[in-house]
Amino acid sequence: MGARKDQSFKKQPEVRLVEVGPRDGLQNEQVNTSVEFRAELINRLSACGLNTIEVGSFVSPKWVPQMRDTHEVFNLIDRSGSTTFVALVPNMIGMSAALKSSVDEIAVFTAASETFSQRNTNCSIHESFHRIRPVMELAKDQKIPVRGYVSCVLGCPYEGKVTVEQVLTVVESLFGIGCYEVSLGDTIGVGTITGTHRLMKAVSRIVSVDSVAVHFHDTYGQALPNILTALEHGVTVIDSSIGGLGGCPYAKGASGNVATEDVIYMLAGMGIHTGISLDALVETSIFVADYLGKPPISRVSAALT
Ligand code: HMG
Ligand code: MG
Repeated sequence: MGARKDQSFKKQPEVRLVEVGPRDGLQNEQVNTSVEFRAELINRLSACGLNTIEVGSFVSPKWVPQMRDTHEVFNLIDRSGSTTFVALVPNMIGMSAALKSSVDEIAVFTAASETFSQRNTNCSIHESFHRIRPVMELAKDQKIPVRGYVSCVLGCPYEGKVTVEQVLTVVESLFGIGCYEVSLGDTIGVGTITGTHRLMKAVSRIVSVDSVAVHFHDTYGQALPNILTALEHGVTVIDSSIGGLGGCPYAKGASGNVATEDVIYMLAGMGIHTGISLDALVETSIFVADYLGKPPISRVSAALT
């Protein structure tokens, strides 16, 4: 990366945010959230100007009860605007439910760590691709774009160190089966600038950085510097979660994703405009906090309320 030079951001990139709060955020909450609340949250996020939102997931309700009834949330949300509504799908059972809900896009997910894959989806990385392949075929048939997630790109809660080579193999495979974008997940938020730089450098050698997104959990407060590092490598798609909600139920100790309002504040300060309203985000963050009965994990929300 070298020293950050003044000209780094001379040509301001268009940055797109993928809001994962209603999925990654709520999947980890102990409070039983109603479908009406989930839908209201999504409508408010759309009104903030977020144009890609993960509505939920079609996974086993025995594994992630919080995402039960995602089909009902799809029925309740306002789909009259141009927002792209996404759902996570692990296999053909999930895909058939997703199709019934007329999702705009799906996200498939696997990991760079074998143990995490087993704990999260009860199968090896190799097996996860067996499950995903028919999903990809059906998605292609139905002209539904597919995003791919790689978890544990900067560390695993069970195995610790994850090598760049492990990540690259999975990234290549996800593109190989037809994902249009791959999101690199620091599932437990252990990454630092150095690791992010090393990863981005390696990833950009094998794929166009235009089709790569970053998904940083903020457990150690490193998400914003890591995002900045990714931006310097040319990444323009950032996953974030309203109020810093989130975590993976199968990654003990993982706290929330980077807060959407914190990302927007940083981008605005850099002169990168996204069309997303910071005031509306903060209001939405408070709406969620009131419902869940705990304050947002966002320095920006804390400063502005
Ligand atoms: P399994 O037990 O291996 O699956 O679970 P199975 O095929 O043997 O089926 C067992 C039972 O589950 C059967 O029901 C199936 O019908 C049912 P039973 O006969 O026992 O009554 N089943 C399903 N039900 C509903 N929807 C489905 C489905 N599939 C099977 N799609 C499975 C495999 C993947 C389903 C399970 O392990 C699971 O649901 N895991 C949860 C994974 C998850 O949602 N994790 C959190 C999201 S990933 C994440 O947060 C990381 C990310 O944010 C990026 C990052 O931060 O790194 C994306
Ligand atoms: Mg996540």
